[in-house]
Amino acid sequence: MTVDNPTASPVSVHFRAAQSHDGAALWRLAQATGTLEVNSAYFYLLFATDFARTCLIAEHEGRLVGMLIGYQPPNEPRTAFVWQVGVLPEHQGQGLGLRLLQHWLDLPALSACEFVTATVADDNPASQALFRRLARSHGVACEERPHFTADMFPHEHPPEPLFRVGPIPRGALMPH
Ligand SMILES: CC(C)(COP(=O)(O)OP(=O)(O)OC[C@H]1O[C@@H](n2cnc3c(N)ncnc32)[C@H](O)[C@@H]1OP(=O)(O)O)[C@@H](O)C(=O)NCCC(=O)NCCS
Repeated sequence: MTVDNPTASPVSVHFRAAQSHDGAALWRLAQATGTLEVNSAYFYLLFATDFARTCLIAEHEGRLVGMLIGYQPPNEPRTAFVWQVGVLPEHQGQGLGLRLLQHWLDLPALSACEFVTATVADDNPASQALFRRLARSHGVACEERPHFTADMFPHEHPPEPLFRVGPIPRGALMPH
């Protein structure tokens, strides 16, 4: 299956798997996005350590400009779950979010994953557009169904439906 060409980000960006020492910078980036729910710094240290193989860093001129924190759900070996994806505000809207997803799927730890899932809050159009765009790029479906409903949260929170993109043919040429 062919994939169409994503918008190319005009800046040169280096992508790599996360390392333990990235935890603090991931926490700062989550804050800088202005939209993400910022978890404790410990949480980012933990992900950058125990889930480093499924977390991606994007750097421009040595500075962290984007991140994708994810994991493989233990009961779904063919699925890669996006927990948080974020791009610095000044780099948003230039194709970097899509490139993060593509490079993330290229990580060896995710090579068997044909589905990408994420919960996307109803009030986050950029995130909705990103996952729908990923699906379009591969000519596959983006299923959207209720998942974490508002009543499941301990405080006021918009619903977080589940987006499920796939099946993405692995080994296909990925747009970067
Ligand atoms: C969501 C996010 C990662 C997308 O990254 P990005 O680099 O801006 O996205 P891209 O440039 O690759 O664009 C991907 C799609 O999103 C759309 N998009 C980007 N910003 C948008 C916005 N503010 N509103 C609506 N759509 C938007 C693009 O138009 C594109 O869709 P299209 O191809 O149908 O036109 C980025 O906006 C971000 O960091 N937001 C704050 C953090 C966040 O909310 N993360 C998601 C929840 S975990």
